[in-house]
Order: sequence, then C-alpha cells, then structure tokens
Amino acid sequence: MISFNSEKQIFKLDTPNTSYVFGVEDKGKYLIHYYYGKRISGDDVRYLAVPDEGALPSANKRDKLSFLDCAPYEYPTKGVGDFRTPALSVKNEKGNEATELFYDSHKIIKGKTVTGKLPGTFGETADVLEVTLKDPVLNLSVILRYGVFNDVDAITRSVIVKNEGDKPLTLTRVLSLSLDTDDKDYELITLYGSWARERTIDRKPLRHGHQGVSSMRGITSHQEHPFMALVTPDATQKTGEVYGFNFVYSGNFDASVYLNQFNFSRVTLGINPEGFEWKLEPGAEFESPEGVMVFSDEGLGRMTRTFHDLYRNHLIRSPYKNRKRPILINNWEATYFDFNTEKLLAIAKQASESGIEMLVMDDGWFGNRFDDNRALGDWKVNEEKLPGGLKYLVDEVNKLGLKFGIWMEPEMVSPDSDLYRAHPDWAIQIEGREAGLARNQYVLDLTRSEVLEHTWQSIKAVMDSANIEYVKWDMNRPLADIGSKALDKEHLGEFYHRYVLAVYELQNRLVTQYPALLLENCSSGGARFDPGMLYYSPQIWCSDDTDAVERLSIQEGTAIVYPLSSMGAHVSDCPNHVLGRTVSFETRGHIALAGTFGYELDITKIPEEDKNMIPKQVEMYHKYNDLVREGDYFRLASVRENGIYDSWMVVKKDKKECLVTFVGVINRPNYKPFKIRLEGLLPDKLYKDEDTGREYYGDILMNAGITINRFHGDARSTLIHLKCE
Ligand code: GLA
Repeated sequence: MISFNSEKQIFKLDTPNTSYVFGVEDKGKYLIHYYYGKRISGDDVRYLAVPDEGALPSANKRDKLSFLDCAPYEYPTKGVGDFRTPALSVKNEKGNEATELFYDSHKIIKGKTVTGKLPGTFGETADVLEVTLKDPVLNLSVILRYGVFNDVDAITRSVIVKNEGDKPLTLTRVLSLSLDTDDKDYELITLYGSWARERTIDRKPLRHGHQGVSSMRGITSHQEHPFMALVTPDATQKTGEVYGFNFVYSGNFDASVYLNQFNFSRVTLGINPEGFEWKLEPGAEFESPEGVMVFSDEGLGRMTRTFHDLYRNHLIRSPYKNRKRPILINNWEATYFDFNTEKLLAIAKQASESGIEMLVMDDGWFGNRFDDNRALGDWKVNEEKLPGGLKYLVDEVNKLGLKFGIWMEPEMVSPDSDLYRAHPDWAIQIEGREAGLARNQYVLDLTRSEVLEHTWQSIKAVMDSANIEYVKWDMNRPLADIGSKALDKEHLGEFYHRYVLAVYELQNRLVTQYPALLLENCSSGGARFDPGMLYYSPQIWCSDDTDAVERLSIQEGTAIVYPLSSMGAHVSDCPNHVLGRTVSFETRGHIALAGTFGYELDITKIPEEDKNMIPKQVEMYHKYNDLVREGDYFRLASVRENGIYDSWMVVKKDKKECLVTFVGVINRPNYKPFKIRLEGLLPDKLYKDEDTGREYYGDILMNAGITINRFHGDARSTLIHLKCE
C-alpha cells in the first residue's frame, strides 16, 4: 500500500510486515529518507532524519554542505556536497559533473507491469509510486519508481532519467537504488565463488569506508553476485534484522556499502559505473534495471522465503512456473563430444524405461564441433554424428515417449567456424589489438543489429527444424576487448548495457515465439544465475560441479535468494568428474531433489545397482516436487558452519506437510544420534512420520526436535516426510 500525507509531504510504502518512509524536506525541495524496517502505524517519523530544522539549507545557507554531507538522501547525486557514494552522476556538455535534484511531482499507479526492454517484477497485488525529481540547471528529470507488494515483503526500485533540455548530457552513473540506514553495527553478507564453486556465503562485520561486490565481466559472474544483505550481528536463520538486496540484471553490477563518519551506512546497487557511460540526447530517456529490497526482523530465513515468493509469483513467467518440469537426462557428462544418433537413442531408450521424461542433447551436435575448439556460430546439424538431422533424432526420441531438448550457445563464435570466416568483424574486438580468447571462443557483438538478427535467425532455424521442447542457453566466457563497429567514441560506454539488452531481446523473442518452451539458462555452470535471467527461464543451471557434497554449499548459497524450483540440479556419475569423489546414488538423488532434478550420466554404463534406483528416484521426484517447488524453505543446519552435517526442509504453504532432508557429510565415531529442530509447522497439530509411523506434535518437532541415527559412511542422507490432518 502506498500513501502520501500531503500536509506533511510524507510518502509511506507498506508491505504486509514492513514500512518504508521518506518525505520532501526544506520547503518542497529535497527527498529525504526517514525509515525502513518493521511495519509502523503512523507516518511522521521525519524527526529521525531531520532533528534540527535550523540545519536545513534554506535556514542555514552558509553551511549547506554540512547538511548535504550527512542527510539521508533518497537518491543521492554527485558533485554538490554529498561526498558519500552517489546514485546518479551526470556530465554536462562542458564536462561538469554536478546534479542536484528537487521534488517536482508524484503519481501512484495500481498494479505493476513490466515496461520497456528490461526484465522486472510484476503483479496486480503491487502498486507503483513514481516520484519525479528535477535538476533545473541541467533540465534533467529523474523518476524514482517504487514497486510495493501487498502480498510479500518486497519493494523494488528503479529510475528513469530524462533529458528535457536541448543539450546532450552524459550519464556516468545511474544506480537503481540507494538506502541510508541506521547507525547499527551491521554485518555484511555477500556471495563469492569461482567456476564450480558458485555462491559461497561470506559474512563479515562492516568497516568504515567502502566495501562491496561487483562484476566487470559483462555477466553477473561466478566470482561475485548481485546480492547483499546487511544483518545485525545477532542475525541467525530465525532471529535478527536483515536487509536483503538483489539486482534484476545480468551484466556488470555494483553492490556497495559505505560506512560513514557517523556510523551510518549507505547501500547502493546498480549497473557498475565502471565501464559505463550513456549519452542522453535531448528528449531521450534512460531506464535503469530493477533493484529489490527485502526487510526481515525474523532473521535470514524470513528474507529468503520472501525472495522465493517474490520470484516465484512475480518474476518468473514461464508456463512451467507452477508445473513440474520433465525429468531430463543430459548427455554432457555421459559422452561429452563423443556421441551420435545411435548413442543418444540408446541413452533415450533406457531413460524412457526408467521413467525419465526428456533427453537433452548438450554441446557437440553442430558444425565441426568435435571438441570445444571450434564451430560455435555454425548452428547446422553435424550429419556425420546425426545422420538424418535433428528431425530424425527428435522424432525417434519422441517415439520412445521422451521430450527432446537441445543445447545452444548463441552469443558465441569460434575462430574456426564458417561464421567467423565470413564475418571476422562480428566478434567483439578493438581495432588494431588482438582480442583475447577464452575456451577458444569470441563473443558476438550483439549490439549490432545485423549480428543480432543473424543470431535470432540461427536460433529460429534450429527451433523450427524439429520438435524441440527445451533449450539450454549457455554462455561460456566473459566479455573483454570492448569495441564495436556499431558504437562510436561517444557511445562506446554504452556497450556492456546494450549487450545485456540484446541478450534479453533474443531470449524474449525465443520465449514469445515458442511459448511452450522450457528454457534453462547456463553460463559455465552458474555464472549468470540472476533474477534477470529468471524472467526468461524458470530454471538456471546452478554449477558444473555436480558433486553432491560440493552441491550442498552451492545450493545453500543459491537458495539464500533463489527458489529451489529455479536451481538446475542433476544426479551425475561417480567418481565425480570435477572432484573424483564418490557419493552414494541415494544421496546424490536427495540433493538433486532440492532443485529441478534430472540426470547427467550415461545410463547405459552406470552400475546396475544405480540404474535400478532410478525408477524409485523418479517416483520420489513425482511425489515431492510440488512440495519442493512451491513450499516454504527452511535452512536447518549448514555443513559450512558445523563441518559435519547439513539439513533443510520444505513446508507446504498450509503447513500440514513437510519434507526434511538431512545429510551426514562427515562420519565421526561414537557419537549420539543427530538432533535437529524443525520449523514452520503448526504447533498444536499431530504430525506423522510416514516411514516410522511415529507421531509428534508440531511444537515438539520445532522445540524439542527429532533425532536421526548416525549413518555408516560419509555423505549419507535421509528424507523425513511428515504430515498432519
Ligand atoms: C558449460 C556448461 C556445461 C556444458 C558445457 C558444454 O560448461 O555449464 O553444462 O553444457 O558448457 O560445452
């Protein structure tokens, strides 16, 4: 709900349990932030931010800078006296970089839709507040857009910057949100990683000055992630105050906290200003991506569940959003590049007999792609491997009762490809400098319309050639050597953002023209796992590390923000191809069950014993996936913290059913059984453990807990399924 107190000029944004309050200060001029936290009744909390009216610039002209230097601005700008991190910086024709914004007007809109070329959250249960600010010297207008959800504790923010003058301006920084917080001793949680080690949770106390995470790779990256949480030091899964921030974007980002001289922190989130410059011609406008803010006074768990609900209900659009995904078998770890129709059909046949529902043909089916050194860009089937082409293969797979999915990496070109030989200038490069290769490939300059159109036609030709019901859209290298024939010196700073917009355009065409398609994004595993991608694909491949034990941390870090329904997770072969570790087939299944679930192995070669377990696992998936996909997720224990065991549970929205997963990661001799307390249940209801028949009241499960016998061996796991009437 959004309200405006016209007498006091205060805006109040309420979600079910949070309030966000700001107002217009100093005779209708500055937009000042007052409060963000647990829901409050009234709106007049301006005394929190403006304790002394005499300090306002109009009353104290001689010390205007003292005010600007410490006022909690709603949207701070560079160059006039606020020396903390700015959200906006604009250069005029003469090169001056100063902007000062004053309140102009506002409007409240019912319902939230996605406009423009960027992904975003939507919903009839949300309202939008647009506050227009103006800089009369630059003739610049800035619209601050707030999406306020009435069914989930989330507020989204973005801005639209318009040049209303007659001279061009240059935007050097347009962040999506800025938030000045209280002077509490917060700790900062971020996610870091590497290839095969994505989204590891990191928590450290804030120190004075700047800190944060960012990407300059053109993609969100394995290394850092556009998520950040400020938490009180007492914050656990269940207790403490938590401010969570996430960015609905798939390119260079910057998420920062600046802790100032008075112990107040400023959080900023947006497109990375490094490598960004946008020329704004008279009459033109620029729209920023959306930042998401979530507040919880019930710890991290509550924040997580808010993000999950927001993304499941108000971001993911796919027809599969509320549906079970077909259990797939992917041939990457089964065959790598060494496959043909016969091999794939052999896999498909056995998969179909085991209850698997879709075959996904991974990398290696096109052009001269016998290894990862060539052929990207040549999206024509390799008839040597697949005689009769895609159509024959897909028809045969369909006859076996399986759907068919395909891998593509449309943004790339190999130097050894027909496409590159015909259009060497289509690769991103700087004239006169040899562009660097990664995995022996270049990135296509999708900011050029002819390159984008060609790429789209290539995708379309593949899609139209057979009954393709799933696409794995991969992206296996970062962007570097930024140069483009489409952008002159004045516009080159627009490259990274234009590239991301082009990827969105292509994926939008794909899901619009093939509305039944199940799209899964991927980027060398999970380097582009972000909310921007979720707007196009309901699931994203989490990591190339399919080792079940490593997956515990990767999936824990991913699930801190993203719903389990979005995490691509498969059972793969052992010893694991990345780590060489062997984990029981059962445990591999239990851990993959916390994601989309599927297989990534050669079913014709795995031990008979494992193969015989597949039908049971298929049954398990069908039994629990509705619960896992739609339920509330609770993190009960983390092997990252205790070094021994890991556990999570999913509770049905009506709280009458839950599934607990418990993994004993490292075995220790001569200890008592594990004890674990459950969460999110109805205290006075009697729950029955389906396996043992034992009954427990909800409050016993949550306060006294349950015991789990020690396992014999490492990385053993169990599922506990409880239900009440
Ligand atoms: C990336 C993906 C893998 C696989 C390979 C194919 O690394 O993450 O799952 O598709 O590319 O080359």
